[in-house]
Amino acid sequence: MPHILLFLAIAIITIHRAAIAQPLNTSFRPGKKWTDTNGNPIQAHGGGILFYEGTYYWYGENKDSVNAPMVVLPGWSVDRVDVIGVSCYSSKDMYNWKFESLALPAAKNNPESDLHPKKVVERPKVIYNRITKKFVMWLHIDSEDYKAARSGVAIADKPEGPFTYLGSFRPNGLMARDMTLFADDDGKAYQFYSSEDNKTMIVSELTADYLKPSGRYKRIFIDQSREAPAVFKHNEKYYCITSGCTGWAPNPSEYAVADSPLGEWQVKGNPAKGEGAQTTFNAQGTFVIPVQGKANTYIFMADRWLNKELKNSSYVWLPLQVKPDGSLEIYYKKEWKLSEFTP
Ligand code: DGJ
Repeated sequence: MPHILLFLAIAIITIHRAAIAQPLNTSFRPGKKWTDTNGNPIQAHGGGILFYEGTYYWYGENKDSVNAPMVVLPGWSVDRVDVIGVSCYSSKDMYNWKFESLALPAAKNNPESDLHPKKVVERPKVIYNRITKKFVMWLHIDSEDYKAARSGVAIADKPEGPFTYLGSFRPNGLMARDMTLFADDDGKAYQFYSSEDNKTMIVSELTADYLKPSGRYKRIFIDQSREAPAVFKHNEKYYCITSGCTGWAPNPSEYAVADSPLGEWQVKGNPAKGEGAQTTFNAQGTFVIPVQGKANTYIFMADRWLNKELKNSSYVWLPLQVKPDGSLEIYYKKEWKLSEFTP
């Protein structure tokens, strides 16, 4: 009798699993509904990717809640959702993502915390520190009215977390909003952040443990009002793609090239080409993914914000080509696969 019960239990579990198994994604479909391996819409906005030991990890803002009332300020208003936290997903092929955890959850019961739902937690990025063996997350921390303009730092022993929040500050004593991290091959890492009321961007070298600014920094794109930096390195050149500064509304992107992160950045123009280029295909950049094991193969990762329904904002991932002369090109594709991407 116990054997029959055991057999029945196994049969039920197997049938149940088969019934809920999600079809595998085999392509990227920019702007279309993208569900994780459990069938839930992916919640990882303003995000970034870490590649670690054969797996890609996607960190981003979990906005899975109805919009909170708009914050109306003199001369400026902003749509928002309450902070839920930073999601972490993992994938081997980048088409199919498994939800790992809410790697840095909101601090629901502490109104003083940077991570309280009424604050702003945006654009998380994670890099791995080879010396301390810690996964280090930096993110934009703000007050509801975006006046705090700070950067937060959290660390973890495993890529999927849990992350321990260490606190926030104004890096180099300067305002900090949209941001990204870039870890160079020599082990040095940098934070790129919109500063000075979003008018100027700062490139700031981090300390060897990646937890603080080292004090070496440079003002770039001075008075150009650039946001949403995404940085990568190709053929010993450094590239930084940014958006303009128009709230949740899309605008043209721009890229710049330098010989070193703290070097002279030369603005080159809009990497987006063809129809939709003036709105970056109705999206705003957040990261550039170097595809592992494929030379000169990069994905431009962007968010198509739906400001009145932020949780339903979608993802626009497109092939990014570096031409032989070093210029960048991003064309819109309704659907594409890495295998057909010829750099
Ligand atoms: C543009 C930024 O890029 C986003 O991360 C967010 O802060 C919105 N502004 C808010 O309006």
